[in-house]
Amino acid sequence: MTGSVPAVEAVGLVKTFGSVRAVDGIDLTLGAGRIYGLLGPNGSGKTTFIRMVAGLAHPTAGTARILGTLVPDRSLLARIGYMPQVEAVYPELSVEENVAFFARLEGRRDPAAVNRVLDLTDLGDRRGTPAMHLSGGMRRRLSLACTLVHEPPVLLLDEPTVGVDPALRAQFWAHFRRLADAGTTILVASHVMDEADRCDELVFVRSGRILVRGTSAEIRTSAGTTDLESAFLHHAGLDSEGRPLTAVSS
Ligand SMILES: Nc1ncnc2c1ncn2[C@@H]1O[C@H](COP(=O)(O)OP(=O)(O)O)[C@@H](O)[C@H]1O
Ligand SMILES: [Mg+2]
Repeated sequence: MTGSVPAVEAVGLVKTFGSVRAVDGIDLTLGAGRIYGLLGPNGSGKTTFIRMVAGLAHPTAGTARILGTLVPDRSLLARIGYMPQVEAVYPELSVEENVAFFARLEGRRDPAAVNRVLDLTDLGDRRGTPAMHLSGGMRRRLSLACTLVHEPPVLLLDEPTVGVDPALRAQFWAHFRRLADAGTTILVASHVMDEADRCDELVFVRSGRILVRGTSAEIRTSAGTTDLESAFLHHAGLDSEGRPLTAVSS
Protein backbone atom coordinates (compact mmCIF):
# COMPACT_ATOMS: atom_id res chain seq x y z
CA MET A 1 0.00 0.00 0.00
CA THR A 2 1.53 3.35 -0.98
CA GLY A 3 0.66 6.58 0.83
CA SER A 4 -2.77 7.45 2.10
CA VAL A 5 -4.52 8.39 -1.15
CA PRO A 6 -6.78 5.53 -2.27
CA ALA A 7 -6.29 4.23 -5.80
CA VAL A 8 -10.04 4.31 -6.36
CA GLU A 9 -12.61 6.04 -4.20
CA ALA A 10 -16.35 6.11 -4.91
CA VAL A 11 -18.64 8.07 -2.61
CA GLY A 12 -22.40 7.75 -2.87
CA LEU A 13 -22.33 6.87 -6.56
CA VAL A 14 -25.77 6.65 -8.14
CA LYS A 15 -26.80 6.23 -11.77
CA THR A 16 -30.41 6.08 -12.86
CA PHE A 17 -31.77 5.30 -16.31
CA GLY A 18 -35.38 6.44 -16.18
CA SER A 19 -36.88 4.47 -13.30
CA VAL A 20 -33.96 1.98 -13.17
CA ARG A 21 -31.43 2.61 -10.42
CA ALA A 22 -28.52 0.85 -12.15
CA VAL A 23 -26.12 1.95 -9.40
CA ASP A 24 -27.90 2.73 -6.18
CA GLY A 25 -25.47 4.42 -3.79
CA ILE A 26 -22.07 2.73 -3.88
CA ASP A 27 -19.27 3.70 -1.51
CA LEU A 28 -16.05 1.89 -2.27
CA THR A 29 -12.40 2.54 -1.50
CA LEU A 30 -9.68 0.45 -3.13
CA GLY A 31 -6.03 0.40 -2.13
CA ALA A 32 -2.95 0.13 -4.32
CA GLY A 33 -1.43 -3.15 -5.37
CA ARG A 34 -4.44 -5.38 -4.95
CA ILE A 35 -6.81 -7.28 -7.22
CA TYR A 36 -10.49 -6.70 -6.47
CA GLY A 37 -13.30 -8.78 -7.90
CA LEU A 38 -16.57 -6.95 -8.56
CA LEU A 39 -19.00 -9.83 -8.64
CA GLY A 40 -22.70 -9.93 -9.32
CA PRO A 41 -25.26 -11.28 -11.76
CA ASN A 42 -25.99 -9.64 -15.10
CA GLY A 43 -27.83 -6.37 -14.59
CA SER A 44 -26.42 -5.73 -11.11
CA GLY A 45 -24.73 -2.48 -12.17
CA LYS A 46 -21.10 -3.55 -12.57
CA THR A 47 -20.58 -2.01 -16.01
CA THR A 48 -22.37 1.21 -15.08
CA PHE A 49 -20.27 1.52 -11.91
CA ILE A 50 -17.00 0.96 -13.76
CA ARG A 51 -17.95 3.42 -16.53
CA MET A 52 -18.59 6.13 -13.93
CA VAL A 53 -15.30 5.43 -12.16
CA ALA A 54 -13.51 5.55 -15.52
CA GLY A 55 -15.10 8.93 -16.27
CA LEU A 56 -17.14 7.65 -19.22
CA ALA A 57 -20.57 8.01 -17.66
CA HIS A 58 -21.81 10.94 -15.62
CA PRO A 59 -23.10 9.97 -12.17
CA THR A 60 -26.65 10.97 -11.23
CA ALA A 61 -25.22 11.58 -7.75
CA GLY A 62 -21.96 11.04 -5.92
CA THR A 63 -18.31 11.33 -6.87
CA ALA A 64 -15.41 9.17 -7.92
CA ARG A 65 -11.72 9.83 -7.44
CA ILE A 66 -8.77 8.04 -8.98
CA LEU A 67 -5.47 8.49 -7.12
CA GLY A 68 -7.00 11.50 -5.40
CA THR A 69 -8.13 13.27 -8.60
CA LEU A 70 -11.83 13.91 -9.13
CA VAL A 71 -13.23 12.04 -12.15
CA PRO A 72 -13.51 13.04 -14.97
CA ASP A 73 -10.15 14.66 -15.61
CA ARG A 74 -8.01 14.57 -18.73
CA SER A 75 -4.90 13.85 -16.69
CA LEU A 76 -6.45 10.57 -15.59
CA LEU A 77 -6.53 9.09 -19.10
CA ALA A 78 -2.90 8.06 -18.83
CA ARG A 79 -3.43 6.61 -15.36
CA ILE A 80 -6.46 4.44 -16.08
CA GLY A 81 -6.65 1.32 -18.21
CA TYR A 82 -10.31 0.63 -18.98
CA MET A 83 -11.27 -2.56 -20.76
CA PRO A 84 -14.91 -2.33 -21.85
CA GLN A 85 -17.21 -5.33 -21.73
CA VAL A 86 -17.82 -4.85 -25.45
CA GLU A 87 -14.58 -4.30 -27.35
CA ALA A 88 -13.92 -0.89 -28.82
CA VAL A 89 -11.18 -1.70 -31.32
CA TYR A 90 -10.90 -0.35 -34.86
CA PRO A 91 -12.09 -3.09 -37.24
CA GLU A 92 -10.11 -1.85 -40.26
CA LEU A 93 -6.83 -1.48 -38.39
CA SER A 94 -4.50 -4.41 -37.88
CA VAL A 95 -3.82 -5.87 -34.45
CA GLU A 96 -0.53 -4.01 -34.19
CA GLU A 97 -2.00 -0.73 -35.48
CA ASN A 98 -4.76 -0.90 -32.89
CA VAL A 99 -2.34 -1.41 -30.01
CA ALA A 100 0.07 1.24 -31.32
CA PHE A 101 -2.85 3.66 -31.69
CA PHE A 102 -3.89 3.22 -28.05
CA ALA A 103 -0.25 3.52 -26.97
CA ARG A 104 0.17 6.81 -28.86
CA LEU A 105 -3.07 8.19 -27.39
CA GLU A 106 -1.41 7.95 -23.98
CA GLY A 107 1.91 9.30 -25.18
CA ARG A 108 3.66 5.94 -25.52
CA ARG A 109 5.77 5.62 -28.66
CA ASP A 110 7.99 2.80 -27.53
CA PRO A 111 7.55 -0.20 -29.88
CA ALA A 112 8.83 -2.50 -27.11
CA ALA A 113 5.68 -1.74 -25.08
CA VAL A 114 3.53 -2.80 -28.05
CA ASN A 115 5.53 -6.00 -28.53
CA ARG A 116 5.30 -6.85 -24.82
CA VAL A 117 1.50 -6.76 -24.76
CA LEU A 118 1.23 -8.60 -28.10
CA ASP A 119 3.37 -11.37 -26.58
CA LEU A 120 1.36 -11.40 -23.38
CA THR A 121 -1.93 -11.74 -25.26
CA ASP A 122 -0.40 -14.26 -27.67
CA LEU A 123 -1.17 -12.08 -30.69
CA GLY A 124 2.39 -11.71 -31.99
CA ASP A 125 1.75 -13.81 -35.09
CA ARG A 126 -1.51 -11.95 -35.78
CA ARG A 127 0.00 -8.48 -35.70
CA GLY A 128 -0.85 -7.81 -39.36
CA THR A 129 -4.42 -9.16 -39.23
CA PRO A 130 -7.23 -6.58 -39.45
CA ALA A 131 -9.22 -6.65 -36.21
CA MET A 132 -12.42 -7.45 -38.11
CA HIS A 133 -10.95 -10.81 -39.13
CA LEU A 134 -10.24 -11.96 -35.56
CA SER A 135 -12.32 -14.48 -33.66
CA GLY A 136 -14.26 -13.29 -30.60
CA GLY A 137 -11.61 -14.57 -28.19
CA MET A 138 -8.82 -12.90 -30.17
CA ARG A 139 -10.71 -9.59 -30.18
CA ARG A 140 -10.98 -9.89 -26.40
CA ARG A 141 -7.22 -10.41 -26.20
CA LEU A 142 -6.63 -7.43 -28.49
CA SER A 143 -8.85 -5.29 -26.30
CA LEU A 144 -6.80 -6.30 -23.26
CA ALA A 145 -3.56 -5.49 -25.11
CA CYS A 146 -4.92 -2.00 -25.91
CA THR A 147 -5.87 -1.53 -22.23
CA LEU A 148 -2.47 -2.55 -20.85
CA VAL A 149 -0.07 -1.01 -23.36
CA HIS A 150 0.43 2.31 -21.53
CA GLU A 151 1.05 0.53 -18.21
CA PRO A 152 -1.42 2.55 -16.12
CA PRO A 153 -1.47 2.27 -12.29
CA VAL A 154 -5.23 1.62 -12.19
CA LEU A 155 -6.92 -1.06 -14.30
CA LEU A 156 -10.69 -1.33 -14.63
CA LEU A 157 -11.43 -4.55 -16.47
CA ASP A 158 -15.01 -5.41 -17.39
CA GLU A 159 -15.33 -9.19 -17.78
CA PRO A 160 -11.83 -9.46 -19.32
CA THR A 161 -11.63 -13.23 -19.71
CA VAL A 162 -15.00 -13.99 -21.30
CA GLY A 163 -14.35 -16.13 -24.38
CA VAL A 164 -10.65 -16.55 -23.58
CA ASP A 165 -9.39 -20.14 -23.48
CA PRO A 166 -8.30 -21.61 -20.12
CA ALA A 167 -4.54 -21.64 -20.78
CA LEU A 168 -4.47 -18.01 -21.82
CA ARG A 169 -6.83 -17.12 -18.99
CA ALA A 170 -4.27 -18.52 -16.53
CA GLN A 171 -1.60 -16.46 -18.28
CA PHE A 172 -3.71 -13.30 -17.95
CA TRP A 173 -4.21 -13.88 -14.24
CA ALA A 174 -0.50 -14.51 -13.73
CA HIS A 175 0.13 -11.18 -15.45
CA PHE A 176 -2.51 -9.39 -13.37
CA ARG A 177 -0.78 -10.75 -10.26
CA ARG A 178 2.63 -9.49 -11.44
CA LEU A 179 1.13 -6.06 -12.11
CA ALA A 180 -0.53 -5.96 -8.68
CA ASP A 181 2.72 -7.03 -7.01
CA ALA A 182 4.35 -4.05 -8.75
CA GLY A 183 1.69 -1.71 -7.30
CA THR A 184 -1.11 -1.68 -9.90
CA THR A 185 -4.67 -1.61 -8.57
CA ILE A 186 -6.96 -3.92 -10.52
CA LEU A 187 -10.75 -4.04 -10.42
CA VAL A 188 -12.15 -7.00 -12.37
CA ALA A 189 -15.88 -7.29 -12.96
CA SER A 190 -17.37 -10.73 -13.48
CA HIS A 191 -20.80 -12.33 -13.40
CA VAL A 192 -19.32 -15.75 -12.61
CA MET A 193 -17.54 -16.84 -9.44
CA ASP A 194 -14.99 -19.14 -11.06
CA GLU A 195 -12.13 -16.65 -10.98
CA ALA A 196 -12.98 -15.13 -7.60
CA ASP A 197 -10.23 -17.01 -5.81
CA ARG A 198 -7.66 -15.21 -7.96
CA CYS A 199 -8.68 -11.91 -6.35
CA ASP A 200 -7.35 -10.51 -3.08
CA GLU A 201 -10.74 -9.14 -2.16
CA LEU A 202 -14.28 -9.48 -3.41
CA VAL A 203 -17.12 -7.01 -3.64
CA PHE A 204 -20.53 -8.62 -4.16
CA VAL A 205 -23.10 -6.42 -5.86
CA ARG A 206 -26.77 -6.85 -6.58
CA SER A 207 -29.36 -4.36 -7.83
CA GLY A 208 -26.78 -1.57 -7.85
CA ARG A 209 -25.76 -2.03 -4.21
CA ILE A 210 -22.86 -3.63 -2.39
CA LEU A 211 -23.98 -6.72 -0.46
CA VAL A 212 -20.68 -7.54 1.19
CA ARG A 213 -16.95 -6.98 0.79
CA GLY A 214 -14.07 -9.10 2.01
CA THR A 215 -11.71 -11.92 1.16
CA SER A 216 -13.22 -15.06 -0.28
CA ALA A 217 -12.62 -16.83 3.05
CA GLU A 218 -14.19 -14.01 5.08
CA ILE A 219 -17.28 -13.93 2.89
CA ARG A 220 -17.76 -17.71 3.02
CA THR A 221 -17.22 -17.78 6.78
CA SER A 222 -19.65 -14.95 7.48
CA ALA A 223 -22.25 -16.69 5.29
CA GLY A 224 -21.55 -20.08 6.91
CA THR A 225 -21.01 -21.68 3.49
CA THR A 226 -18.13 -23.44 1.78
CA ASP A 227 -18.70 -22.06 -1.70
CA LEU A 228 -19.07 -18.53 -3.02
CA GLU A 229 -22.28 -19.14 -4.98
CA SER A 230 -24.09 -20.08 -1.77
CA ALA A 231 -22.38 -17.22 0.06
CA PHE A 232 -23.73 -14.82 -2.57
CA LEU A 233 -27.28 -16.13 -2.11
CA HIS A 234 -26.91 -15.87 1.66
CA HIS A 235 -25.67 -12.27 1.52
CA ALA A 236 -28.45 -11.43 -0.96
CA GLY A 237 -31.03 -12.80 1.49
CA LEU A 238 -32.01 -15.64 -0.84
CA ASP A 239 -32.42 -19.35 -0.19
CA SER A 240 -30.54 -22.06 -2.08
CA GLU A 241 -33.07 -21.86 -4.92
CA GLY A 242 -32.83 -18.09 -5.18
CA ARG A 243 -36.10 -17.32 -3.37
CA PRO A 244 -36.29 -14.51 -0.81
CA LEU A 245 -35.74 -15.92 2.70
CA THR A 246 -38.45 -13.65 4.03
CA ALA A 247 -41.07 -14.88 1.53
CA VAL A 248 -44.31 -15.77 3.20
CA SER A 249 -45.74 -19.07 1.96
CA SER A 250 -49.48 -19.06 1.49
N1 LIG B 1 -27.67 2.95 -21.30
C1 LIG B 1 -28.62 2.37 -20.56
N2 LIG B 1 -29.92 2.73 -20.68
C2 LIG B 1 -30.88 2.16 -19.93
N3 LIG B 1 -30.66 1.21 -19.01
C3 LIG B 1 -29.38 0.81 -18.82
C4 LIG B 1 -28.30 1.36 -19.59
N4 LIG B 1 -27.15 0.77 -19.18
C5 LIG B 1 -27.50 -0.11 -18.22
N5 LIG B 1 -28.82 -0.09 -18.01
C6 LIG B 1 -29.55 -0.90 -17.00
O1 LIG B 1 -28.88 -0.74 -15.77
C7 LIG B 1 -28.83 -1.95 -15.05
C8 LIG B 1 -27.39 -2.33 -14.76
O2 LIG B 1 -26.74 -2.65 -15.98
P1 LIG B 1 -25.19 -2.94 -16.07
O3 LIG B 1 -24.45 -1.85 -15.39
O4 LIG B 1 -24.87 -3.21 -17.49
O5 LIG B 1 -25.05 -4.27 -15.19
P2 LIG B 1 -23.98 -5.46 -15.26
O6 LIG B 1 -22.74 -4.93 -15.88
O7 LIG B 1 -23.81 -5.86 -13.84
O8 LIG B 1 -24.60 -6.55 -16.08
C9 LIG B 1 -29.58 -2.97 -15.91
O9 LIG B 1 -30.92 -3.00 -15.47
C10 LIG B 1 -29.49 -2.38 -17.29
O10 LIG B 1 -30.54 -2.80 -18.10
MG1 LIG C 1 -21.65 -5.63 -17.45
